[in-house]
Amino acid sequence: MKKKLKSKKYEFIPVNKPLIEKKDITEILRSLKRGWISSDGPEVKSFEKNFSKLINRKYSTAVSNGTAALEIAIKALDIKKGDEVIIPNFTIISNALAVIRQNAKPVLIDCEKENWNMKIDDIEKKITKKTRAIIATHIYNFPVDIDKIIKICKKYKIFLIEDAAEVIGQKYKNKMCGSFGDISTFSFYANKQITTGEGGMISTNNPKIYQKCKSLRNLCFGVKDRFNHDDLGWNYRISNIQAALGLSQLKRIKKIVKRREYIGKQYYKKLCINKNIQILKPVCSFAKNIYWVVGLVIKNNISAKTLAKRLNKYGIQTRPFFWPMHKQTILRKMGLFKGEKYPNSEYLSKYGLYLPSSLSLNSKQISFISKKVNEIIK
Ligand SMILES: Cc1ncc(COP(=O)(O)O)c(C=O)c1O
Repeated sequence: MKKKLKSKKYEFIPVNKPLIEKKDITEILRSLKRGWISSDGPEVKSFEKNFSKLINRKYSTAVSNGTAALEIAIKALDIKKGDEVIIPNFTIISNALAVIRQNAKPVLIDCEKENWNMKIDDIEKKITKKTRAIIATHIYNFPVDIDKIIKICKKYKIFLIEDAAEVIGQKYKNKMCGSFGDISTFSFYANKQITTGEGGMISTNNPKIYQKCKSLRNLCFGVKDRFNHDDLGWNYRISNIQAALGLSQLKRIKKIVKRREYIGKQYYKKLCINKNIQILKPVCSFAKNIYWVVGLVIKNNISAKTLAKRLNKYGIQTRPFFWPMHKQTILRKMGLFKGEKYPNSEYLSKYGLYLPSSLSLNSKQISFISKKVNEIIK
């Protein structure tokens, strides 16, 4: 009888796996044992204080996630119906949602093919009398060239909201990303530089904006009479247990950033030789690439979906690039962005994906993944 050939089993390599160390668990347990389990606890306050120190801001407000941080940011700046907010087209839907939830209008900017960030040269064309703010989101690898956006904001007297969810610990011209906006927002989702499971932060130097953010996070409880509320807030609080994890992770942010850089550079060495792949280089004129995720764009008409399927057979999990805002089913149903065209975003969403980027990834795994990518994209 003929023996059936067994297909080779490959180790599963997830696109991201959070690195939780023993010290993190100790800190979580400590907060649990002390009974600080909801949002009113010492770790939340310390987390906010230490986070402010890291990114050189006066005030930080910890919240339940990065999307909540953006929603609060928009409302804290009193952006409302009739207002317009400029956002990147190639981004997470949270940017558009925050604007829409306050009944304001998101106005889109295409991205650069070279670095995947917002095309700054297109911004001024989209500014009108109704424009109140720009959300400058740092996408995947390099920070957006924020000095240029700051100039535009100053010229037109509009707010800058810096979405720094993906760049915690990254620098732009030697200054911390997230230190530039009137308000800056961050995420601590499991795949971010530091994680609290779910979580986010809002930072600012403006005491009034800070007070408003704190109030909006906590149902806008009345100052005089607690249960007589001042405004329409949310329960977007973070728990003290989560903050204990965040505080513990924050202590090793430098190490985390270094590790990401190292992983990214190893991938870069192996993939930059492939002329049919675009992988962003380790430095540009204003920043180092700390490779929050190791993204690539295919240049020879093989779609990212095809590459993902083929890598999956080898146990390699990937994540597609963002789906552009102007093509989002729900936003189109709402009548937004009719007839608008953003070729670069469409291109990146079709041909871009990111590879496993966990902090625990080892050299052997990086070599295996790169080899398979180079075999498929020839
Ligand atoms: C740039 C950016 N902004 C905001 C968010 C939303 O953060 P969260 O998932 O914590 O709501 C993300 C999430 O991945 C993101 O990448």
